[in-house]
Amino acid sequence: MSNLLIDDIGELVTNVADAGEGGPLGIRRRVALLVEEGRVAWIGPSRDAPAADRRIDAGGAAVLPGFVDSHAHLVFAGDRAAEFAARMAGEPYTGGGIRTTVGATRAASDEELRATVRRLRAEAMRQGTTTMEIKSGYGLTVADEARSLRIAAEVSTETTFLGAHVIPAEYADRPDDYVGLVCGPMLAAAAPYARWVDVFCERGAFDADHTRAILTCGQAAGLGVRVHANQLGPGPGVRLGVELGAASVDHCTHLSDADVDALAGSPTVATLLPGAEFSTRSPYPDARRLLDAGVTVALATDCNPGSSYTSSMPFCVALAVREMRMTPAEAVWAATAGGARALRRDDVGVLTPGARADLVILEAPSHLHLAYRPGVPLIRQVLHNGVPQ
Ligand code: NIG
Ligand code: FE
Repeated sequence: MSNLLIDDIGELVTNVADAGEGGPLGIRRRVALLVEEGRVAWIGPSRDAPAADRRIDAGGAAVLPGFVDSHAHLVFAGDRAAEFAARMAGEPYTGGGIRTTVGATRAASDEELRATVRRLRAEAMRQGTTTMEIKSGYGLTVADEARSLRIAAEVSTETTFLGAHVIPAEYADRPDDYVGLVCGPMLAAAAPYARWVDVFCERGAFDADHTRAILTCGQAAGLGVRVHANQLGPGPGVRLGVELGAASVDHCTHLSDADVDALAGSPTVATLLPGAEFSTRSPYPDARRLLDAGVTVALATDCNPGSSYTSSMPFCVALAVREMRMTPAEAVWAATAGGARALRRDDVGVLTPGARADLVILEAPSHLHLAYRPGVPLIRQVLHNGVPQ
């Protein structure tokens, strides 16, 4: 059995709260970590390290769990750079551009879509993302949603059926019929490739009744629930998600006190997507308010061609610290353990014996540098399932 020792780790972020200093980060200093069969097998002082077939010298650098990006839309064709430029010149973001991407995605071949998914998944991996959720939502026909998820499932087990992204143009004057399609043949074709169901619950997309109907039929088909909620304005999405036991409600930019209370009393994670506010030049969600209320917060990229075309979790960590008043420790936790909670996973987002050996060796002595040195490529090496990438 071949094993691998990562030696001379200056700072190990375990995310096991009682394992060391730094509160929830469970920081251990000057340790080694043994990887066996894709899992963490042992952590301890270097002098006690077992013999190993291979060794990586971390040279005193920081090591942390790989990032868990719990919200990304990678299956699409084309881009919307011109829409971004228009926004930066003053146009508002409305979500209306989604239909542009739907047109391009329907016209693309499987190979084109597959190439984009793989390119973006690899791009994210280079920036330390070892788990990445991938949504459909730019097909919006039975065949195009099914193939989007089939292609997503080739690179991730965390796949999400977002047939309810917007109402496609051909159903504009009969939204109830579209909801019937989503809950009927589209769900049936998508479910074999999906773990989750998601709805864009927003004025101009899906209202409370439609959202409830789609999430409920997704649940009946065995899918877990997540919601695009309260992104562009106040609305029912967050409370509906909590009521239906969603693993996560995402965006959470416009929250009432009742929304925050509902989240605080629930296991539902609030996933914040600061890349979207950055790229739409919108006010950021109030992370401090959520954290102070005791809500579990995750950070994710929302990688998509419209509102947030970044695959970089380090960028999101830096934004969360600078713009959302999260501490560097809170942001690193939210981008790793928080994302794992948002996907109801206990095998990733932590580094402890038995966990998946998904980790990042930084080109820096501390996790603090991720926010302190924004825009700098600090990911020296990534291990995914124990395999150096
Ligand atoms: O999460 N809000 C809905 N969906 C995406 C945006 C999609 C797009 O603009 O293409 C989001 O921001
Ligand atoms: Fe999104």
